[in-house]
Amino acid sequence: MLLTLRVQGTRYSLRTGNCSRSRWLASNAVVEKSPSPAQPQLEVNGSTYATDSWTNVTPKILSYLGANKHLQKDHPLSIIRQRIVNYFYGAYRNQRGNPLFSVYDKLNPVVTVQQNFDNLLIPSDHVSRQKSDCYYINKHQLLRAHTTAHQVELISGGLDNFLVVGEVYRRDEIDSTHYPVFHQADAVRLVTKDKLFERNPGLELFEETWTGSLADPKLILPSSKCMDQTKQPCHTLEAVKLMEHEMKHVLVGLTKELFGPRIKYRWVETYFPFTQPSWELEIYFKNNWLEVLGCGIMRHEILQQSGVHQSIGYAFGVGLERLAMVLFDIPDIRLFWSNDSGFLSQFSEKDLHNLPKYKPISHYPQCTNDLSFWLPSDVDVDAGFSPNDFYDLVRTVAGDIVEQISLVDKFKHPKTGKSSVCFRIVYRHMERTLTQAEVNDIHKQIANASVDSFNVQIR
Ligand code: PHE
Repeated sequence: MLLTLRVQGTRYSLRTGNCSRSRWLASNAVVEKSPSPAQPQLEVNGSTYATDSWTNVTPKILSYLGANKHLQKDHPLSIIRQRIVNYFYGAYRNQRGNPLFSVYDKLNPVVTVQQNFDNLLIPSDHVSRQKSDCYYINKHQLLRAHTTAHQVELISGGLDNFLVVGEVYRRDEIDSTHYPVFHQADAVRLVTKDKLFERNPGLELFEETWTGSLADPKLILPSSKCMDQTKQPCHTLEAVKLMEHEMKHVLVGLTKELFGPRIKYRWVETYFPFTQPSWELEIYFKNNWLEVLGCGIMRHEILQQSGVHQSIGYAFGVGLERLAMVLFDIPDIRLFWSNDSGFLSQFSEKDLHNLPKYKPISHYPQCTNDLSFWLPSDVDVDAGFSPNDFYDLVRTVAGDIVEQISLVDKFKHPKTGKSSVCFRIVYRHMERTLTQAEVNDIHKQIANASVDSFNVQIR
């Protein structure tokens, strides 16, 4: 049977907030089973894609394509986008006074594994590639997991100062700060020796001892050898320090522009496969250090692969929901998807600098139900079972009335060896009170769908 899935919504013309340190540092591969037999073909934004054992996008997830919340008039994410873009327009101008940065905010979120990972030197066994972390269309294509996925295509096209803004897709737990679709802005700035050392001619971008070409893929260093926080072997210390200084100056400028001049911040060294050295910027907010963005000096191999040999660059990525939640005091990430006029009417892009604080529409009560089941006898709770598969099923069946899901218990029967898991699902509607009967009904549907999809046995 040939099953075709159509996705509603507008077409695209052409994926840190969530850039958590652990995501990029961890590096052990886990091989998993596919959740259920996939459709042979998928149609996404007018293109048809073959499906295979990697396919794990759900109709629910595909329904977000084209929503373009970051471009929707008066939407808080659009307001944050405009603040970031305007800041970059002002921070960098050419001799004629025009903005140096160009902005790409409608790029197709369907990207290749090469764009999302290989081009960015992400090791082939890196955890971020797992099926349990990404939404794959098939083995070769996925919904971008970060907007960094577009770096190489844009640099190869000749661009040297650009911003990419768009939604990104990651399989994740469900709570008030995690949602499978969120938005990021990424930037790249490349400079040549003449520009970087305008005031110090005679200094060099590259070490004399460095032979000049990394184009041979065998010479590309594995990421494990790229942890040195001082610099990459090819760059001179002067070049890296000047670039680091410019980047940090601009990003602290952006943070102050967004959060006000008195914000407390700190730089934390970190690791990304695509930058070296790398940092995260954290701000002090409500008695906590909150990570706002990830950045670093771009790995020179990436520039070389893109045909750029005589420049050094910096790149950064930032999660828009996280910024918006802080700036507008929005307590729950699901609100960004609300069409309730009570929510949307609170924000206006007329005055980008006068951001109102969000006023809760009202507080509806939560309903909490547990669901326990035995896994099939050949599935082990710690090896073959991925909670993210269950989270997706819950999202598909129950949609946004699910506020949180947590794995509250796992148990392995000493005699039968069978594993059992217990999930706690918290239901809450954003706009009205849910009745217990209504919740029970949906809970039952989730239980039935779990039996069908995962061959589990309800306890
Ligand atoms: N892509 C990274 C993330 O999503 C953020 C990042 C972009 C870090 C560019 C460094 C440079 O976590």
